[in-house]
Amino acid sequence: MKLRSVRGTHDIFGENIRKNALIEKIVTRKAELNSFQKIETPIFEFSELFAKPLGEQSDVVLKEMYSFKDRNEEMLTLRPEYTTPMIRAAITNNLLNELPLKIFGLGAMFRRERPQKGRYRQFNQINFEIFGTNDFMADLELIVLGNDILKSILPNSKFILNLNTLGQKNNLKEYKNKLTNYFKDKKEKLSDESKEKILSNPLRILDSNNDKDIMISSNAPNIQEFISTEEKNHFLDIKKGLDFLKIKYVENNKLVRGLDYYCSTVFEFKTSELGSQNTLLGGGRYDGLIGVLGGPDIPGIGWAAGIERISMLMNSTNSNFTKVHLAISDKKYRSQIQNIMKYLRENNISFYWNYKYNLKKSLSKANFNKIEYVIIIGEDEFNNNFYSIRNLNTGKQSKLNENEIKKFLND
Ligand code: HAM
Repeated sequence: MKLRSVRGTHDIFGENIRKNALIEKIVTRKAELNSFQKIETPIFEFSELFAKPLGEQSDVVLKEMYSFKDRNEEMLTLRPEYTTPMIRAAITNNLLNELPLKIFGLGAMFRRERPQKGRYRQFNQINFEIFGTNDFMADLELIVLGNDILKSILPNSKFILNLNTLGQKNNLKEYKNKLTNYFKDKKEKLSDESKEKILSNPLRILDSNNDKDIMISSNAPNIQEFISTEEKNHFLDIKKGLDFLKIKYVENNKLVRGLDYYCSTVFEFKTSELGSQNTLLGGGRYDGLIGVLGGPDIPGIGWAAGIERISMLMNSTNSNFTKVHLAISDKKYRSQIQNIMKYLRENNISFYWNYKYNLKKSLSKANFNKIEYVIIIGEDEFNNNFYSIRNLNTGKQSKLNENEIKKFLND
């Protein structure tokens, strides 16, 4: 068998590991600053958790879930998204006693999509949710937090916030019926993919990238006509808040999101730097979902961002976290090596040694890796119990006793 990884999966190492570590660090800090509690849920759940909330007719449920029968015949699914598992965890662990609940998590999701740049079958998401309030301030807080996180990780990238409101579930239902009727009449002019969605999921025709669909959609009924005054005011308040905070946005009445549980506010941060997989972060309200899953009838809102897509836009990170290399000329000096390693470990000074007893090879490795300092142990150092430290940037070499090293490296 030829050794290979599964299509749509990838190994993360080197530069990308460093980028992911930085993303996690920034996200965790921002979460702390905004008082979100971290939660981790299992990678698989009972399949029935997902089908209804995400939509029996959504692409994710129809074609993309990794589901399998466990040995006891129970159907399990690798989580395709994090919102439903988070709600499940909040309900089963009684976390909804004190509201609002603000939680976040990072982790792997699985969808059997057609892989392409920015779209994978195993990918990582950052996810933030607030359960238990319908105050527009929560919508605003989450959008602002998303903007803040993206800006902190990607100071040199351009992305733009797209906003829409879908109204409450009953308005949305009415709107979907109107859309179905509208598209039915124009069925022959739609793409094959959209034809299939006329009855089941007409909203998705609105955000199709196909030119024929875009043409037909341009005259489709506008969602704004179906939205209650209360919902309109909720949306207006969010927009006023964004204006007040000077966060730019575009109002996009065709923004509908891919999962079925949404209503009211929906939003996406999009970039033009990634080709067709251009959404960095997406989310919205899902009032009603927590009740559908067996919890109390409380509202919820959240977003998720794709770590791989963010990472693709990041500048390279500095890989030089090693402070000193060791260079040893002979096996005879092993006790000295152990001493210096013990000293460096105890003083939290990062070090590297290539297990070679060859000054030239160790020095050239340090030069290649652009390391600043090398600690040298040769005959003179061993016999007279001192260490030579060379600064590779200046070429200057100093003789030091062990207890002088820390201060020297820190100065
Ligand atoms: P989503 O739009 O399906 O929403 O995914 C959110 C983000 O995850 C996308 O904008 C994208 O950056 C990333 N993403 C999705 N699929 C892939 C893929 N196949 N490969 C790489 N990245 C991907 C949700 O998942 C909702 N649960 C978000 C949410 C949270 N809504 C409310 N709370």
